[in-house]
Amino acid sequence: MPDPFYITTPIYYVNARPHLGHAYTTIVADVASRFHAMRQEETFFLTGTDEHGDKVVQAAKKENLSPRTYVDKISELFKALWPEMNIKYSHFIRTTDAYHMNLVKQIMQKIYDSGDIYFSEYEGLYCFGCERFYTERELVEGKCPDHETPPEPIKESNYFFKMSRYQDWLIDHIHNHSDFITPKRYKNEVLSFLKDPLEDLCISRPKSRLKWGINLPFDKDYVTYVWFDALLNYVSALGYPDGDRFKTFWPYAQHIIAKDILKPHGIYWPIILKAAGIPVYKKLHVHGYWNVDQSKMSKTIGNVVEPLHLKNIYGLDAFRFFLMRDMTFGLDSNFSEEALIHRINSDLANDLGNLFSRVLAMVHKYFSGVVPDVDAEMEQELELGLKSDALKVIGKFEKHMAKFAFNKAIMVVWEFINHMNKYIDITTPWVLAKKKSSRKQLEVVIYNLMESLRVISGLIYPIMPDTAAAMQKHLGIEPMEQAFHTNTLKTWKTLKPGTQIPKSITLFPRIEYQGDRMSSVEQKDSPADALPVKPEITLDVLNKVDLRVATVLHAEVVPRAKKLLKLDIDMGEKRTIVAGISESYSPEDLEGRQVIVVANLKPAKLMGILSNGMLLAAVEKSGSAVATLDRKIKPGTPLR
Ligand code: MSP
Repeated sequence: MPDPFYITTPIYYVNARPHLGHAYTTIVADVASRFHAMRQEETFFLTGTDEHGDKVVQAAKKENLSPRTYVDKISELFKALWPEMNIKYSHFIRTTDAYHMNLVKQIMQKIYDSGDIYFSEYEGLYCFGCERFYTERELVEGKCPDHETPPEPIKESNYFFKMSRYQDWLIDHIHNHSDFITPKRYKNEVLSFLKDPLEDLCISRPKSRLKWGINLPFDKDYVTYVWFDALLNYVSALGYPDGDRFKTFWPYAQHIIAKDILKPHGIYWPIILKAAGIPVYKKLHVHGYWNVDQSKMSKTIGNVVEPLHLKNIYGLDAFRFFLMRDMTFGLDSNFSEEALIHRINSDLANDLGNLFSRVLAMVHKYFSGVVPDVDAEMEQELELGLKSDALKVIGKFEKHMAKFAFNKAIMVVWEFINHMNKYIDITTPWVLAKKKSSRKQLEVVIYNLMESLRVISGLIYPIMPDTAAAMQKHLGIEPMEQAFHTNTLKTWKTLKPGTQIPKSITLFPRIEYQGDRMSSVEQKDSPADALPVKPEITLDVLNKVDLRVATVLHAEVVPRAKKLLKLDIDMGEKRTIVAGISESYSPEDLEGRQVIVVANLKPAKLMGILSNGMLLAAVEKSGSAVATLDRKIKPGTPLR
């Protein structure tokens, strides 16, 4: 039996809506978890939300909500987003869950009883944004490096955790376990931090300042510091100490984080585990940051990228593929829609999509869509088998995936795709098809190509599960979990000769990029209850928006776009627009209806269709509602 696999994401703060960065980490965890499931390992994938602390109280206040109502609302946004991204987590933890809160108290008490927690007065520099004290050394020009604001001096009595006692142990542990923290640069960063004496960690907050937290079991006037509470989620979710899941999965724990939270995970967490008498986690995988158009994503700049928006326009698998392909795990990467479109067109539409259509078209043309039988002797004689190449590719792919080198794993598959294209050029099936005498050779060539596509469908499965299933269906395989197991992939000749395959499809249509409209992706899919993020504008700015009444003349679904409808409208003049509303409206619902359109929005191509204007609609989780008028108005009439 292979070892089980336990993978976690950070639990996300509920003071902001989920964005590209959260989606990336969670998709990485999903990809890793699917990959280990392919190897028939028992997997457990944990994600969730971090709901205590001052940040959350402040965010709730801004919304005029109680912390409880507020955390329920935002946590739900995260929970609802992950299935939309095809993320199959095993459990979603909230730090406000009773079982978690009880466990935090239990562990606090245990560490307190063992003498590692003491009470003391402390005067220090506190960043309210980070909810922690800073040492002078950690500040950059006297400011918090994250929030770029000067921390405030505060003096308070608090409980402290004797981290310093475990410093030497941690240094040794890191040296003795070479892949405890990867990539290496982050291991070095932690070791370099540990060169200076560790300060003890303040693990309480007085209730006079913060009530929204887990009570300290040994002092009713204090709550637990949010990081101490949050880190314990990784064990509480498994039912520590006696839960079966804890026993099965904890010895194989692997955490994924970005570089922003390296210190709590690389230093506090192993020390907390050691002090609580829990074995230390196995691996910490640290990735870099996604920047947007070369700058840090921020609400103030207004460049926060919404994952759902990208899914709706480009398709989920293309989005997942881009994230895995365009970031070298560990380094920062830049997100732009141009780069995304380029990846879709070159790697997905051109390379993979074309190869798939090319091979299937030949199966239909030369064998009437039936998987050909192969003459084994002929195959040997030809020495044209792709088998040994395919097996090598699977081996290399597994090696890179296990190391979180996702882009390298993908590159190996794409080299194989190129190799297959060359194989077609060399074997020239169209020439073989001309002569009866070369029929057997043709069968070998086409069968080998189909088998190789089957292998590719399995290798892309963790990254693009829907595309993998579509490919298998079109190769005549009943899509089943088992078809994606690495053992099945390694078994050559699993396609059954004589199977009739369905008509071919275009896996990825090419996308045309026009102008800058596609790059403004912020908040377009915001549900009505989203946090207000748009800046105040003047009437002058509002007047620049040309809103018009339009009548829908004809509507149709845009193929392969999950939500898009193409609408021909009469707006005083005839125009075509594309709207992401097909989940709530069928074309017939809209024909003849009057709608409101932003008429002077720069035209943009969506799924190859030029959209000349934008339909107004309210969008919420359950669907959309198109804005209409309460009586018939002449098409083209402006709205004021
Ligand atoms: N609540 C803490 C984590 C506690 S874990 C015990 C927290 N939450 S967070 O909402 O701020 O999430 C931080 C994490 O979100 C990062 O470590 C990373 O996984 C992800 N990302 C947030 N922004 C990101 C980018 N711009 N790029 C890539 N990942 C990013 O910290």
